[in-house]
Amino acid sequence: MEIATTTEMVQGVYERLREGIDRYRKDAGRPLTLSEKIMAGHMVRDGTDIPVENKDYVHLTPDRVALQDVTGQMVMLQFMVTRHEETALPTTIHCDHLIRAKVEGGEDMRVSLDENSEVFRFLKSAAARYGCGFWKPGAGIIHQVVLENYAFPGGLMIGTDSHTPNAGGLGMIAVGVGGMDAAEAMAIKEWELLYPKRIGVHLTGKSSGWTSPKDVILKVVEELTVSGGTNAIVEYLGPGASTISCTGKATITNMGAEMGATCSIFPYDNRMGEYLGYTGRCGITKLANLHRELLVADPEIEEDPSKYYSRVIEIDLSRLEPHIVGPHTPDLSRPISELSDDSRKNGYIDEISAALVGSCTNSSYEDMSRAAGIAEQAKARGLQAQVPLMISPGSEQIRATIERDGQMQSLKDIGATVLANACGPCIGQWSRPELEENEENTIVSSFNRNFPGRNDGSRSTMNFIGSPELVVAMALGGRLSFNPLKDELTAADGTKFMLKPPPPAPEVPKDGFQTVEGAYVPPPADPHSVKVVIDESSERLEELETFPPWDGADLEGLRVMAKAKGKCTTDHISPAGAWLAYRGHLDHLSDNMLLGAVSAYHNEVGKGKNLLTGEMAPYHKVARAYMKAGIRWVIIGDGNYGEGSSREHAAMSPRHLGCAAVIARSFARIHETNLKKQGILALVFSDPADYEKILEDDTINIVGLKSMAPHTHVKCLVVHADGSEDTLDLSHSYSASQIGWFRAGSALNVLRDK
Ligand code: F3S
Repeated sequence: MEIATTTEMVQGVYERLREGIDRYRKDAGRPLTLSEKIMAGHMVRDGTDIPVENKDYVHLTPDRVALQDVTGQMVMLQFMVTRHEETALPTTIHCDHLIRAKVEGGEDMRVSLDENSEVFRFLKSAAARYGCGFWKPGAGIIHQVVLENYAFPGGLMIGTDSHTPNAGGLGMIAVGVGGMDAAEAMAIKEWELLYPKRIGVHLTGKSSGWTSPKDVILKVVEELTVSGGTNAIVEYLGPGASTISCTGKATITNMGAEMGATCSIFPYDNRMGEYLGYTGRCGITKLANLHRELLVADPEIEEDPSKYYSRVIEIDLSRLEPHIVGPHTPDLSRPISELSDDSRKNGYIDEISAALVGSCTNSSYEDMSRAAGIAEQAKARGLQAQVPLMISPGSEQIRATIERDGQMQSLKDIGATVLANACGPCIGQWSRPELEENEENTIVSSFNRNFPGRNDGSRSTMNFIGSPELVVAMALGGRLSFNPLKDELTAADGTKFMLKPPPPAPEVPKDGFQTVEGAYVPPPADPHSVKVVIDESSERLEELETFPPWDGADLEGLRVMAKAKGKCTTDHISPAGAWLAYRGHLDHLSDNMLLGAVSAYHNEVGKGKNLLTGEMAPYHKVARAYMKAGIRWVIIGDGNYGEGSSREHAAMSPRHLGCAAVIARSFARIHETNLKKQGILALVFSDPADYEKILEDDTINIVGLKSMAPHTHVKCLVVHADGSEDTLDLSHSYSASQIGWFRAGSALNVLRDK
């Protein structure tokens, strides 16, 4: 299996695009947007029907699959169950999430390699056995490595990480999916998607000064909120789009995940062509230039976007101010000019305790150059960062290039510590022994996520997100109320000075990127000779046992194991941090189930009442007690339940511990699919107010399941402890094949038995 994105491969994709687009446009009888065109070129279509958005499921053939080291373990364990001999799609595995951030890059990498050697050995052997490419620890963060090596305009990829849409910066439909989706696509070259609606973001003007691509996406997330992109592809268009660098576009599409969007995408332009050239893919630039009309929306779309998108957001880049979002949610946004007042009003801690720059979101050459531009101004005045400043390069290519070109030294000169080329402080792998337990503190970062507990595992850390240059400036000011656009800093000699906006920075290095050797291991010529390494006594890996099929009876006598109040993300359901170590061992990992969820009955975090004993206990203990007693149970969720990441363990652990159904006010898209895939019923209160009717000691009966069909409703009989009853109407989004997953016990069972 050829893993690289070759020009021949791209040529084949463009031929299929042309054919698929012509046919689809004729059947639709109207011009097509960019995402419609790319999907049309990858869609398995039997007749002339046009899918109805947010109603019909479509089958797509991705061009490639990318896995990261944490979610990738379960993908490979699931793929092994399918009994397929080799991946049917070019697939790569990237070791990035398991690298800690404690001291500095080199030392952290050495310790992480040692601590995780068993997992890396498994992933490397499984990659070799099943024909996948393997990127070693230290090579970089999955999305940066994909952008540098594999993404191409007009392509379609899936990845088991929610920020896979990063590749939309190179004009690709790139979607974060659960591990089972990936395993299935690797087995049968197909992937099922609820056909998304489309949201347009029309860009005009050109940004300057302190305003950066980060501010575009912070503004869009503010407009759409954390759930406003659900089941939608966000398409950027308008003359402002081509004023943004390719890597800046990737920052924007990366953070589309923060509003739950299926993905985000920019049309092909010369900036993308140039980036492809600088990353060794001139052949693809030539092809993309030749087929440009396939890689942009039809011309009529730009003339009147409102006719073709469910909503159009207008942004004038010339008037856009730098923004800061947070704490605890990426849609709590304000311009930097309002942060000081907002902070005072809300009682946020003014003193910043740490500043973080980089991650998969903002570690491009341009980002690092703009951040270094601020650092150099401080250095010239003898000023150091007032708080620990940490830099996470997105890839070894970026790290080596900024080391060669001086940006890294500029940042080190003001006291920055360079961490490993990995996820580290973005995913709870950040060790902060200086903090007391639950000590409230403020950090600033250029990352993408700021849920409680995300960065250092502490729910008391408040993370404010902005552009890399703004974060460096705030590290120099040391306070949340410091506004670099109007406040002065004090130089080493006591004089006052103001930072100038970062100078225009090159998006690609004039001497090209530094080449990196030895970071990648291709699959061997004879994969069948390789043995996958899993130690039988391992506490971190175990071969997967499949879930039992549905017994054909209604789900009766279910107990309410948990009722989550408010935001319940996949980080709340299946926390990361130290738990990342157990993602290949389902039983062990399941001890983290719902540890971050807030009980609607007790307001406690991570605990619920065991109705058999009357005692409060961590959810996993309650669930295990019910399982032992032969009782199945439900989770009741609030709005946008499961927002955040593609983490399928947030569905697998509940299933493993006896969960029969999750009933919520609404679901985040990926998590809803993951629940379905693991054989848990994902149901929605038709009347969101019914959420309030579920009491802790209720018995839940979900009936009429034999006749469950697409576009029908399901009845739920709630029996209260006093004998009174409520009958609730529940809706669902199951397709016929998804109902098959429920009946078989999981999507994996269906795939195995095919
Ligand atoms: Fe890694 Fe954070 Fe990106 S966990 S993939 S750096 S969102």
